Amino acid sequence: MNSVILAIESSCDETSAAVAVNGSIMSNVIATQKVHEKFGGVVPELASRAHQQNIVPVVQQALNEAAVKKNRLTAIAFTQGPGLLGSLLVGVTFAKGLALALGIPLISVHHMKAHILSHFIEDPKPVFPFLCLTVSGGHTQIVLVRDFLDMEVIGETLDDAVGEAFDKAAKLLGLPYPGGPIIDKHAQKGDSNAFIFPKTVVPGLNFSFSGIKTAFLYFLRDNKAVNANFIKENYNDICASIQYSLVQMLLDKIKLAALKTGINEIAIAGGVSANSELQRSMQQLAARKGWTLYIPKIEYCTDNAAMIAMTAHFKLINQKIADMETPALPRMKF
Ligand code: KG4
Ligand code: ZN
Repeated sequence: MNSVILAIESSCDETSAAVAVNGSIMSNVIATQKVHEKFGGVVPELASRAHQQNIVPVVQQALNEAAVKKNRLTAIAFTQGPGLLGSLLVGVTFAKGLALALGIPLISVHHMKAHILSHFIEDPKPVFPFLCLTVSGGHTQIVLVRDFLDMEVIGETLDDAVGEAFDKAAKLLGLPYPGGPIIDKHAQKGDSNAFIFPKTVVPGLNFSFSGIKTAFLYFLRDNKAVNANFIKENYNDICASIQYSLVQMLLDKIKLAALKTGINEIAIAGGVSANSELQRSMQQLAARKGWTLYIPKIEYCTDNAAMIAMTAHFKLINQKIADMETPALPRMKF
């Protein structure tokens, strides 16, 4: 029998819907909320209101683009967590309402696991077991992936996520939210050796980004005290240098994880995997170490419902079905 899954993602500031037919993505519509730009971060109340406005047109467009009528759907998938409660609730309640009305099963999906399984949307696909460096606005993890539904976090951040460090650095430079992609753009014109920032050394496979964030704050404060135009005059070099330091901290740990596990199938996923310096240095490292490296297409790096649909496809095959009692879980465990 054909499986026709409608998936909904609403964990943060993207409202997205996708349709998968027998595990192939037929549409993936993403509405990015611009309302947070001037606030330097996602405002939860504004995010849930925008999801509320976007969800019906986004779902309708995903169905239209896939040329699928509602009555052909065989399951509804949704992001259960982690994420912002008010944002998750919009997706969870919409999915439940639709599944109830159509009399079809519900499938709940873990957002970070879905980022990893975005690698199965298109070829080339990683071979199990593989390591995934999962880097987003809320998480920084190294995950040992044994199978579609068998994953273990073997390293993670003890404080801030690397995406958060990018966004906070950008905010200190006066850039709008999300600042990660803007730092990336300016960094391409700058010298990454212009300024040195102290790397926080954490034992094992864990990360810490709060120290470099504070060091960056003091660095700007001290230099601005000497030259009020310091940021303006050194903009590209500052972006290149902070980006280089953040990426190096990620590389150190993925190198160690590959060494410790002996695994050389390596993937990156999540919003920060769109970063050009991370992609470039991972490619260099992979060539040197003999790894096979997997980088998602840009639209599957940042938040999207295609990855939710893909994960739901594997859950459905394994009969992992949710019910009407399934809650939204802002701090959902891995
Ligand atoms: O996975 P994602 O879209 O949402 C979460 O699940 O958090 O990741 C968003 C994060 C933001 O912190 C954003 O600044 C960062 O990904 N990001 C980037 C780039 N593109 C997105 N950071 C650095 N360079 C980029 N090109
Ligand atoms: Zn995400």
